[in-house]
Amino acid sequence: MSVPRVAMFLCHCHKSSGDLNRAVRIGEEALQGCRDQGLDGSDDYFMLAATVMEAYGDLGDEAHAAAWARQLVTQAEAAGSRSGQAALYWNASLLAERDGRLDDALEYSHRAIAHLGELGDSRDLARLKVDSAAVPAQTAAAIKAGRVDLDDPAVTLALLKLNAVVGVKGVFNGSGQITSMGITCALCHSTVDDSFAPGIGRRLDGWPNRDLNVGAIISLAPNKKPLTDLLGVDEAAVGQALAAWGPGKFDATLSLDGKAFRPDGKTGATLIPPAFGLAGVDLATYTGWGSVTYWNALVANLEMHGRGNFDDDRLDDASQFPVAARNRLGHVRNQPDLVTPKLAALHVYQLAIPAPKPPRGYFDAAAARRGRVIFEGKGQCQSCHMQPRGTQAGWNLVTPADICTDAFTASRSPTGRYRTTPLVGIFARSKGGFYHDGRYANLAAVVEHYDDCRGLGLTAREKADLVQYLRAR
Ligand code: HEC
Ligand code: HEC
Repeated sequence: MSVPRVAMFLCHCHKSSGDLNRAVRIGEEALQGCRDQGLDGSDDYFMLAATVMEAYGDLGDEAHAAAWARQLVTQAEAAGSRSGQAALYWNASLLAERDGRLDDALEYSHRAIAHLGELGDSRDLARLKVDSAAVPAQTAAAIKAGRVDLDDPAVTLALLKLNAVVGVKGVFNGSGQITSMGITCALCHSTVDDSFAPGIGRRLDGWPNRDLNVGAIISLAPNKKPLTDLLGVDEAAVGQALAAWGPGKFDATLSLDGKAFRPDGKTGATLIPPAFGLAGVDLATYTGWGSVTYWNALVANLEMHGRGNFDDDRLDDASQFPVAARNRLGHVRNQPDLVTPKLAALHVYQLAIPAPKPPRGYFDAAAARRGRVIFEGKGQCQSCHMQPRGTQAGWNLVTPADICTDAFTASRSPTGRYRTTPLVGIFARSKGGFYHDGRYANLAAVVEHYDDCRGLGLTAREKADLVQYLRAR
């Protein structure tokens, strides 16, 4: 390891332990050493400087940190240090955000994303969607003609002002400056139809966004302290967990049990499910945590940090939910409670989102008709995926053994079981695979699995027909 790297590491250690003065002193000495040896144009130099700059900010010396940030950014640009610039832009963005200079913060974070993208850092793959109906015709025409730079922060701000970024809400003051921003359920549970351009189109509410890389977005946060504090692990561990999620997935249980990985080393994250077709379904989530309204309350309070009340004694079980028990997440109280009054309307709205019908040509109708007979007969699918919702009428949970699958994700839920996934709108949720973690790449693989598991003895044609029937749902 190079000297600046060692210093950066030490600087981080002292910062995390709260000894900011020591962090700054060690960092400054190493930076001086670099300058003495003529190493002050290297990537490592700028990355260390970015760390020290952040420590000055933490010390409350924000004016010094901000002035220094401007100077360092110019130097790194002149030296052509890409990693250095990326690190500096991030930390400058963090400082600006803390200062309330959100326009600057956005500008810096945009530049950082651009650099990370060029460095092959996959973090820029976090695909947000744009609602074309919210964009005025003139702007839309300019986008089409290629006259709008979608990487320009001013464009992002304009789109946020139009409320056109699906699932992201900006709050602007009287003079049009952004003062805060937040996310909505639509970030994950809506997408667009790409009718205008990839990622830009009409809103499809309730459809899972299987392009969205939630882990990559969270890992862009310059400050991971809320996560490291909650989970009681270091930044590297948080980074590893987030990087493993990949597109279309999120781990809603990580902040309750701290289990980032399965025993086989794969991520513990699950696919983002659709939010449509849930009316008439008893338990929600892949493992049946509770009703839709129970889960809405959990997500609003524990995942999205809305300020409300939330209660669940099951989260006091410290052996199953060490993080939740330690942080008393089963007993959240806020005055005033801003969440509960919204739950009724949210529930009604959600249950009213119908499952979309597959487009013409998505399935072979004759084969699908034959497939239905298999589904309800020889395939035994109907014993769990009952018509018409595609899940059991009543208590809709089964044991992992019932579907010949491992118990990992089930064991992270108070139920210890899997919920029979309602089979509606299959075409709108086939990207990313099937089953809670996308382990089966396509429907043929799912059917193959059931044939093995239940010894169904389906012929090749029966399997193919069954797949067409599923595609028709
Ligand atoms: C960061 C992405 C993300 C956001 C934001 C999000 N969810 Fe989810 N949602 C998920 C994932 C992943 C699951 C699957 C969790 C599981 O089954 O363990 C899920 C599951 C659900 C389910 C259960 C669906 C089913 O098939 O039973 C409902 C209902 C739901 N979310 C509602 C909401 C609401 C309401 C909000 C906003 C308050 C919201 N979600 C915000 C990712 C998200
Ligand atoms: C014993 C109950 C049971 C039977 C029988 C059963 N399933 Fe399932 N099915 C489930 C459960 C539970 C899941 C959720 C598994 C998971 O997410 O890990 C599921 C998931 C699925 C999925 C994936 C849905 C998605 O969006 O991820 C498909 C497709 C499916 N089943 C089709 C079938 C077919 C076809 C049959 C008959 C050959 C069948 N199932 C028989 C319980 C059952």
